[in-house]
Amino acid sequence: MEKLRVAVIGTGFVGRVHVENIRRQTDAEVVAIADQTAEIAAGFGRALGVARTTGEYRDLLDDPSIDAVHICTPNKTHFPIARDAIEAGKNVICEKPLAMTAAEAARLVELARAKSVVHATSYNLRFYPNVAQMRRMVETGQVGEILAVQGSYVQDWLFYDTDYNWRLEPEVGGASRAMADIGSHWCDLLEHVTGRRIRAVCAELATFHPIRKKPKKPLETYAGKMLAPEDYEDRPIGTEDFAAVLLRFDGRARGSFTVNQVAAGRKNRLLMEIYGTRCGLTWDGERPNELWVGRRDGKNQLLVKDPSLLERGARGFADLPGGHSEGYADTFKQFFRRFYAACRDHSLAGDLPGFDAGLRQLELVEAVLRSDAEGGWVEVD
Ligand SMILES: NC(=O)c1ccc[n+]([C@@H]2O[C@H](COP(=O)([O-])OP(=O)(O)OC[C@H]3O[C@@H](n4cnc5c(N)ncnc54)[C@H](O)[C@@H]3O)[C@@H](O)[C@H]2O)c1
Repeated sequence: MEKLRVAVIGTGFVGRVHVENIRRQTDAEVVAIADQTAEIAAGFGRALGVARTTGEYRDLLDDPSIDAVHICTPNKTHFPIARDAIEAGKNVICEKPLAMTAAEAARLVELARAKSVVHATSYNLRFYPNVAQMRRMVETGQVGEILAVQGSYVQDWLFYDTDYNWRLEPEVGGASRAMADIGSHWCDLLEHVTGRRIRAVCAELATFHPIRKKPKKPLETYAGKMLAPEDYEDRPIGTEDFAAVLLRFDGRARGSFTVNQVAAGRKNRLLMEIYGTRCGLTWDGERPNELWVGRRDGKNQLLVKDPSLLERGARGFADLPGGHSEGYADTFKQFFRRFYAACRDHSLAGDLPGFDAGLRQLELVEAVLRSDAEGGWVEVD
């Protein structure tokens, strides 16, 4: 089988994760990378052994031998790069959030459909084995009718006012920060696992550091711990550090979650709790190989990821035997495997979080912002 030829655009934190996990596929290869300057791209190319590098992503889109493009750049560039890639006929994985606004995302969905390219938004957390297990348990009725969901997604990498990143600048990251950056992962996971759609939200946002100290030189994500006081300048911050959101679904189900990027000691913790009429499920993204199953009339269980113990539809998300942990990087491996399979056979695209999933999350983000501004419930659909 001829390998799919893949280009990665954006070579920061997540661009590296993409390159490494494309290389774990047997049917695809990284043939080129682009960054915003030729120097950055060449440096990354040397470090990771990619021969073809460029400071102009359009060079790669003009190359008919490239089958697929991964977009791993800051949020404001997603729309123009994804649009150009689709127009060039490439299959596209775009990092989340898919665009700066739901209107932009809707245009990408239309364009991708019109051009019949395979499209995916990088909601990689769907591809943990225990997430697939939760979904199967809901689908097969083991959880019963879902009554309540709750959880959080919390981090501490923006804890100090000296912590800085392009995500803090609305013109680059978008009007929402914590909600768009990590809350969207939580909501995507919730809707994916439960099959239920959030119908309305009631949200309160907070910005704990209204002024932050911006480093005078550019930084890669998570690299800000190395600087001294004279390296900074003040910058007002308008996007949220924190969001608390109440959720309403059709029928009896209700829910709530918080997101927080200044939560001391929580490095990157997504917590999801689902309570149904038969049992409860709790999954902690910092301990992804464990799934808690709670029962009123029986013993609670802690399911440790083991393909032989997973539901049949979830087994394919685990490549290693029980007791051998699978983590964050493995979700990209599983995701890309399915993406490339869909590039070869478009009928498999239903297994992916398409651009429609990216649009959905931007609609939710915008509903949360509107709810906070108006001070009440906002319908999502
Ligand atoms: N799915 C996930 O788990 C996950 C994790 C981290 C980041 N992300 C998403 O990935 C994207 C990138 O985040 P990051 O943390 O890697 O950022 P980063 O700042 O570490 O890297 C961004 C890279 O893009 C490059 N770049 C900027 N503008 C460009 C342009 N016009 N053309 C080409 N390259 C350009 C930068 O030079 C840099 O190398 C964001 O949208 C973020 O939300 C997703």
